This record gives sequence, C-alpha cells and structure tokens, in this order.
Amino acid sequence: MKNQPKILAFAGSTRNGSHNKKLVKIAAIAAADAGAIVTEIDLSDFAMPLFDGDAFANNGFPNAAQAFKTLVISSDGMLISTPEYNHGISGVLKNALDWASRKGEGEAPMAAFKGKAAGIMSAAPGIYGGVRGLGQLRLVLTGVKVLVVPEQMALSGAAKAFDDDGALKDPELEATAAGIGAALTNLLKKL
Ligand SMILES: Cc1cc2nc3c(=O)[nH]c(=O)nc-3n(C[C@H](O)[C@H](O)[C@H](O)COP(=O)(O)O)c2cc1C
Repeated sequence: MKNQPKILAFAGSTRNGSHNKKLVKIAAIAAADAGAIVTEIDLSDFAMPLFDGDAFANNGFPNAAQAFKTLVISSDGMLISTPEYNHGISGVLKNALDWASRKGEGEAPMAAFKGKAAGIMSAAPGIYGGVRGLGQLRLVLTGVKVLVVPEQMALSGAAKAFDDDGALKDPELEATAAGIGAALTNLLKKL
C-alpha cells in the first residue's frame, strides 16, 4: 500500500504546443489531486540518440537515456500521452522506452518497468484521435511488463479541443482525461 505513489508523466512529442503534452498534463494534475507525487517531464530535455546495440555494448547508457531511465526507476507508475505517427507510436517515445528497457549492471531484467503501472492516452487533430498508436502503446508497455489501466483516451479534433488555459473545452472530455490520472493513482495505492 502506498498512500503517495510516485508518477512520471510525459508525452511522446517534443513539439512546442503539443496536444499530447496538454492532454497528459490534465491527467497529471488529477493524479496529484488524487494523492500522487507527480513528476512531469518533457522528452525534449532528454535528447538521447537512436538506440544502437553496438554503441550500448561499448559505451553503455548515454547520459540522457540514463537520466530518463533513472526517473522511470524512481517512479511507481507512468502517465503517457502519445502522438500517432503513421498509425504507430512516435519514434521519440519508442526510442525512450527502448533505452529504459535495457539492463544496467547488476540490475534485474526490466528493472525500470517491472511491477509498474501506467495510464495512457493519445491526441491527434484527425477523427481517430491517435487510437491506433494508443493500441500500440498498450502493447509495448505490456511487453516491458507494465500493467496498463483499462481506462484510456484517444482525443480527436485536438487542434480545437483545448482552451487557452490548456483545459479541454468539453467538460466530459476533461473528466475522462482526469479520470485516467485518478484511476492510475488509485491502482498504485493498492499495489
Ligand atoms: C510523421 C507524422 C506522421 C503522422 N501520422 C499520423 C497518423 O497516422 N494519424 C494521425 O491521426 N495523425 C498523424 N500525424 C499528425 C499528428 O497527429 C499531429 O502532428 C499531432 O499534432 C502530433 O502530436 P503533438 O501535437 O502532441 O505533437 C502525423 C504527424 C507526423 C509528423
């Protein structure tokens, strides 16, 4: 039982004005309101190279990849909102998850992820809201041994969905996004 689970919140986009950054922030605020200690990060602050097996074997983790992995290790769960790029998750997000999945010296396999839980969402300007990338994100997280809460959200029409303060104009959608943060926090309290 953890009364104050630690949650790492981030989007799979590095873009200024990213819809996914706005969406994950709503869930992050709700998670904090539900009692979590939330750390929000921007993957643009973790400029890691593309994963390369030879470079990893020879040089280990680059600083940015290690810094991201350390944050994942120190969290109990993650809130992630991914853009949909060509019907999949963004390369930036997949690359970060790939780096964090690699075993450091003396670590158990999947040390960063095993026993953790996540809440996931996506946002896109189009009508599908990135739902195909969202399905991929659930698959990838399951692959690295993360339990993904059933609640999820694919926000369509994202370019017109937020007000100037970053809230969703539709209160029902705002409640859905907040509900993912709350659901993750409540699950983590029970783990
Ligand atoms: C390489 C690339 C591929 C894209 N593919 C899709 C797609 O398959 N489906 C979709 O809904 N939007 C697609 N888009 C549009 C993104 O949904 C849009 O750029 C969105 O704003 C990205 O998320 P962000 O606002 O968080 O950066 C694509 C954009 C890029 C740059």
